[in-house]
Amino acid sequence: TWTTGNVIEEQVAAIRAQVGDKRAICGLSGGVDSAVAAALVQKAIGDQLTCVYVDHGLMRKGETQQVEKDFVAATGARLVVVDAEKRFLDALAGVSDPETKRKIIGREFIRVFEQAQLEILQEEGPEVAFLVQGTLYPDIVESGGGTGTANIKSHHNVGGLPDDIEFELVEPLRQLFKDEVRMVGQELGLPDEIVQRQPFPGPGLGIRIVGEVTKERLDLLREADAIAREELTAAGLDREIWQCPVVLLADVRSVGVQGDGRTYGHPIVLRPVSSEDAMTADWSRLPYEVLARISTRITNEVADVNRVVLDVTSKPPGTIEWE
Ligand code: XMP
Repeated sequence: TWTTGNVIEEQVAAIRAQVGDKRAICGLSGGVDSAVAAALVQKAIGDQLTCVYVDHGLMRKGETQQVEKDFVAATGARLVVVDAEKRFLDALAGVSDPETKRKIIGREFIRVFEQAQLEILQEEGPEVAFLVQGTLYPDIVESGGGTGTANIKSHHNVGGLPDDIEFELVEPLRQLFKDEVRMVGQELGLPDEIVQRQPFPGPGLGIRIVGEVTKERLDLLREADAIAREELTAAGLDREIWQCPVVLLADVRSVGVQGDGRTYGHPIVLRPVSSEDAMTADWSRLPYEVLARISTRITNEVADVNRVVLDVTSKPPGTIEWE
């Protein structure tokens, strides 16, 4: 019979058999899949696993701390955090085009992650031979099956290492669906903030700022997003909505009036959607009182924001994200 206990036991045994006394690396994204995969491997091989988290500076408020503190506290995993905020912001300077932003973020991410891998290899020796990935069953079906190896090409001149290092993949979630992964994560003691996390794009808040991405704008958006999430959670709406992007229209200004005078600030867009699989979506009919609370709090508490608007477009024609 299928129980989370059985799945964990089976996978722990399989991981031990596969990895033996060698070492493994797992990249954490802040999302559910990589966290549960890492927790399973940690349970199986303990300190033979090193987790790597690239902090690109584009995460929401509190998310990096969730990985740094809560994930580590729950699992006891060895974690290397790479603070790459400045590198990502420098690479994004002056860029407004959404696809260019995605390409830059993806490229920098791979570079930073590979550099971290090489440093771990240098420190721990070449017997680091395994790369953990949170591949789910639907991912395998979509990509036509097959398991494999990851070929990590080194473009950096780091002495003493082969040019190409081949990692064997460890994919302990290969037989699971998303809801099962959440159950396994819960059983492994991961916090709800990680296990019940709604979808969040890899490029993070970088694609939720319409216009150039800067530290100031990210900080502003982080505040607005945190308020929206807080109020949606307080209203018990987390399960009802699929996700709720909060978007800063950094290139738009509108006139407002606050306190003693006129303001000229930026609008924040709320994009709550309901969906089954993100391929299609409908805008969520949130209670007016909840929308009112979010709007009042954001305009009161976030400097430079004087307007909150609601996106009432389904997908299609609108995508879930604005970029
Ligand atoms: P769209 O905006 O295409 O989004 O309706 C569909 C789902 O995918 C997420 N999304 C991304 N996820 N990298 C990701 O990892 C991306 O570049 C990206 N763009 C969109 C989005 O949050 C939604 O869940």
